[in-house]
Amino acid sequence: MASQNISLTRYLVEQQRVDGLIPGQLRLLLEVVARACKRISLSVNKGALGGVLGTAGSENVQGEVQKKLDIIANEVLIEANEWGGHLAAMASEEMDSIYVVPNRYPQGEYLLMFDPLDGSSNIDVNVSIGTIFSVLKKPDDHPGVQEADFLQAGCKQVAAGYCLYGPQTVLVLTVGDGVAMFTLDREQGSFILTTDKMEIPADTKEFAINMSNMRHWDAPVKRYIDECLAGKDGPRGKDFNMRWIASMVTDVHRILTRGGVFMYPWDKREPEKPGKLRLMYEANPMAWLVEQAGGAATNGRQRILDIQPGKLHERVSVVLGSKNEVERVTQYHLEA
Ligand code: AHG
Ligand code: MN
Ligand code: MN
Ligand code: MN
Repeated sequence: MASQNISLTRYLVEQQRVDGLIPGQLRLLLEVVARACKRISLSVNKGALGGVLGTAGSENVQGEVQKKLDIIANEVLIEANEWGGHLAAMASEEMDSIYVVPNRYPQGEYLLMFDPLDGSSNIDVNVSIGTIFSVLKKPDDHPGVQEADFLQAGCKQVAAGYCLYGPQTVLVLTVGDGVAMFTLDREQGSFILTTDKMEIPADTKEFAINMSNMRHWDAPVKRYIDECLAGKDGPRGKDFNMRWIASMVTDVHRILTRGGVFMYPWDKREPEKPGKLRLMYEANPMAWLVEQAGGAATNGRQRILDIQPGKLHERVSVVLGSKNEVERVTQYHLEA
């Protein structure tokens, strides 16, 4: 496939034409998101030369200090997407409430959610970061758009993906027909299909978790990691390797590429919080990508894509990746 030089544009046209999988408006929306990601990629690549590193001094609704690039990426995504006529509203990690498309532009039928810059703590140290996005259809039973329209379970997503700004800039996408990866060809200025169907092996010997939180974990998580650490002589009978990049987008990309299990579980630091990661623009899009690549994603007990969100910035515990490992971690939670 890659040797035929299939661009993202052609891939989407073929998904629309041959498989009837995506309506024209959704195709255009995804093209615009990809274009915005190209612009973000340019800013990321300029780094100190573009004056984009460092903090902005403000705080977002999550209580996190915003980096300049969190805000720049958010603005690029809004500016690129608001005028095209395919969206009704957007929601983002960096905005308190939904952004309704201004009425000087036509209102479309889709809702776009994004984590404009995932891995903010890695911006200033030149480690891979990304943009995560998720698309829902606006319920058509009422005019206008409100926050409640976004509160749909992840299984209702019509498209999801991320753009990773690493040694290469890659766009990874699903519209419900497997997961495709495109690499940005900077000479052509377009995303070219480089992996047709990403697949996560069911078994793995690699886990990703922030080990510094170990003393705060719940018993099932501790049990799973203890067993991995026991290696060949332990109950698992094999040695495990660990990776933690602290950009979910990059950890998930590794898992889509070579397998593994990623966990950001609930812990005792803030017991009233279900987890750190955000359901609508981090967990849901990643969970769908992982499932589409043959993996699994749960909150320890329940499939992430089945969770009915109660609010826009809802948080969730996340276990995703190689199917057999995710099932094992989930089993440990259910037995506890
Ligand atoms: P964001 O930069 O969008 O706020 O998300 C950061 C998230 C996620 O990317 C990563 O897996 C996790 O935070 C890292 O958290 P720790 O610093 O606690 O390891
Ligand atoms: Mn953040
Ligand atoms: Mn994030
Ligand atoms: Mn972010």
